[in-house]
Amino acid sequence: MKVEELILHKTPFYLYDLEFLENTLDTAKLNAEKHNYHIHYALKANTNDRILKLIQEKGLGADCVSGNEVLKALEMGFSPTQIAFAGVGKSDEEILIGLEHDIFSFNCESIQEIEVINEIAEKQNKVAKIALRLNPNVDAKTHKHITTGLEENKFGINGWELESLIEQLPNFKNIEVTGLHFHIGSQITSMTPFKNLCIRVNEFNNWFLERNIHIQHLNLGGGLGIDYQNPEESPIPDFELFFGVFNQFLEPRPHQEIHFELGRSLVGNCGSLISKVLYVKNGIKTNFVILDAGMTELIRPALYQAYHHIENLTSSSSSLEFYDVVGPICESSDCFGKKIELQETKRGDYIKIHSTGAYGEVMASKYNLREQNPVVYL
Ligand code: LLP
Repeated sequence: MKVEELILHKTPFYLYDLEFLENTLDTAKLNAEKHNYHIHYALKANTNDRILKLIQEKGLGADCVSGNEVLKALEMGFSPTQIAFAGVGKSDEEILIGLEHDIFSFNCESIQEIEVINEIAEKQNKVAKIALRLNPNVDAKTHKHITTGLEENKFGINGWELESLIEQLPNFKNIEVTGLHFHIGSQITSMTPFKNLCIRVNEFNNWFLERNIHIQHLNLGGGLGIDYQNPEESPIPDFELFFGVFNQFLEPRPHQEIHFELGRSLVGNCGSLISKVLYVKNGIKTNFVILDAGMTELIRPALYQAYHHIENLTSSSSSLEFYDVVGPICESSDCFGKKIELQETKRGDYIKIHSTGAYGEVMASKYNLREQNPVVYL
């Protein structure tokens, strides 16, 4: 879409490039299929209907973290046999939703959760298929708010609880353990944590084998990062390298299925946030570009000091200036970036904040009674 067309839309808005998404999905699928791996899409990254529909049509499964995400996946046509339901705090009502639809797997994160699922399944006369989410204590070397696989994190069942869990399993008549589930964190750009994950998964897999517990599938989670610094140079993540690491280091049993649940790497670079400059204001140390989008549209910079590449789409100036690019919300953390180099910027310019397809629109809030954003498609 040309800039002249873009600026016909009311700002701020999310812009999604569905053709680019399709290319990303095809690349991911192609590389997964080389090793017979299955991909589930982590809905939490983006639940836009057209994005979900495209992903469903490509035949991916769904990884959900709430009853509403399970219902959304069903509404968009994902088969219940492709739906995994994770999360440390599933409510009884949410568990019922999964049971009613006979989903592929509840990814369970504590012994008490398994007890509760067993109880509810018994009342429903069902057997719930579960995967045990194990905490592998592997450092993902990413931002601390998006690290999930360390013992200090709330996620997963810890290794030292396993003996006691296995002793209790025969009491859970309405539970069938079908898989092991892992997820060490998000926005992981080095392959070393994934290699370390494989080593731990092999140990767990052997542990279960030694105890004659047949594990049908291994779910390695998501976490593959995207290049936020140079979104235009390397827009599609290196899926070949990523799946190659698992192919090299993971030692599955024959017939064990291998699943991944990718979010950011599939949708991150298909979206951007387009915003208009309301004011340019001279500060003491820096000049501020004040946008009509704020942390209510994109909270990642405020929450994780995340970097998103920022570009002025409409300035024709040949001089470059440094600005702090901020939003209109009444919080000092409502800042998209400090000392950002932009072409000289003025009121009315259009600004593109790149790589906002994942954890952008879904994390929007109504704080300051902000309106919901419209969406535009390429
Ligand atoms: N599986 C599980 C169990 C997860 O918790 C997550 C993400 C994923 C899969 C997908 O991970 P991905 O492939 O997208 O890295 N709001 C944060 C990210 C939170 C990620 C939460 N879990 C952000 O904006 O960076």
